[in-house]
Amino acid sequence: MKPFLSIIIFCCTICFSYSAFSEDDSEDVIKYRQNIMKTISAHHKSLKLLSAGRITQPEQWLPQAQGLNNMAKMLPTAFPEESDFGDTDAKESIWENKADFNKKADALVKLSGKLVSLIEQDEQKQVSELLPEVSQSCKNCHRDYREK
Ligand code: HEC
Repeated sequence: MKPFLSIIIFCCTICFSYSAFSEDDSEDVIKYRQNIMKTISAHHKSLKLLSAGRITQPEQWLPQAQGLNNMAKMLPTAFPEESDFGDTDAKESIWENKADFNKKADALVKLSGKLVSLIEQDEQKQVSELLPEVSQSCKNCHRDYREK
């Protein structure tokens, strides 16, 4: 395929999926983002087991960290306007402070990206040292934006 044509198709896909998401049912949007959070949590807990030496699967550190990083990148689009009512623990203040909320999501993207590159460099010990910072970044956001 000509590069120009693939760029056009790529842009159309992005535009289409963006508009499709904004028309999604808000209950589904809420369920979907809670699934993202649960997946983030599962990768995070798995990395803690690996780094504590309780699970010996050296080749699985990387996909767990990549999973965490990929999911964290989805956070800013997971909280569209009009998804603040229904069965959610998301606080109203997210939409009043979207820039700060996105900054807190970005902190997790950066930290999990750092985990990925440390693992790629075989620096498992530094990964273990960084995990408490990852936990702290979850708490920093939950403290302000998630109902207890
Ligand atoms: C940028 C903000 C932010 C960050 C960073 C963040 N969370 Fe969350 N989290 C939320 C919000 C908001 C909710 C409530 C979502 C809802 O109910 O709609 C939530 C919900 C959850 C839930 C409950 C999901 C469910 O089943 O309802 C878990 C578990 C969770 N987060 C774990 C984590 C972990 C672990 C981390 C860090 C590795 C993390 N979160 C990082 C904002 C964040």
